[in-house]
Amino acid sequence: MKKLALLVAAALMCASMAACGSSSSSSASGSASASTSGSASASASTSTEATASGEETTGDTLIMGTNAAFPPYEYYENDQIVGIDADIAKALGEKLGKEVTIEDMDFNSLITAVQTGKIDMVLAGMTVTPDREENVNFTDSYATGIQSIIVPEDSEITGPDDLAGHKIGVQESTTGHIYCADDYGEDNVIAYTTGANAVEALKTGKVDAVVIDNEPAKAFVEANEGLKVLDTEYTVEDYAIAVSKENTELLDELNTALAELKEDGTIQSIIDKYITAE
Ligand code: ARG
Repeated sequence: MKKLALLVAAALMCASMAACGSSSSSSASGSASASTSGSASASASTSTEATASGEETTGDTLIMGTNAAFPPYEYYENDQIVGIDADIAKALGEKLGKEVTIEDMDFNSLITAVQTGKIDMVLAGMTVTPDREENVNFTDSYATGIQSIIVPEDSEITGPDDLAGHKIGVQESTTGHIYCADDYGEDNVIAYTTGANAVEALKTGKVDAVVIDNEPAKAFVEANEGLKVLDTEYTVEDYAIAVSKENTELLDELNTALAELKEDGTIQSIIDKYITAE
């Protein structure tokens, strides 16, 4: 009887400890902050915020802002943000002797975040546009993007001209959004927070097409049955890193490092790692 009571007590204790025998070290962090090096650095250092004059980035951390729903440039693998931009940022960090941490946010918050010093740089498959250049500085370009059109396999839409009069899904504030609103009227465009949400709307018939950058377009079509990417280029664009207009020193450092990484083939090998030539 006494023995049984002991056993029961032991069993109860075990249950209350949740993981009897196994050390549970899982840290389910809902945080949107991730580090390329794998070391979770939630406390992104305030490297630029302190410099009111903004003449340089102090400290040894570079905070990259992105919107990690844009494969293969940035996306989640478990709770890590990976992709071409994450790898390029890491390579740049190594060149500059700085650790890179990544902040995930809405695409339309990125420009303000870099202007206010919340982040040091934007790597988000971000296209250089004259409007954005009024607010931030862009480095030299590191990749090319194309705005592509995704439609259901049986769609009658065969190219940009057919988009007129149709409902077009886009990711908010992206070039796809801006161009489609200009060309087909804001009323025909529905903006979603992520490209994935726009693709979801396409699958359920809420929109007739999605206009988005070509590599994410391919990734989305691969992951979703019944869709195809049209073989036409809506626009061709340059991707570059955005930095604060105040921080010209970082701009110069990044351009120098970028040139070296292009020269020695690092950039190309990162792109090849994620994009297989067809
Ligand atoms: N290239 C487009 C632009 O600059 C789309 C970029 C979207 N990037 C992202 N990480 N969601 O507007």
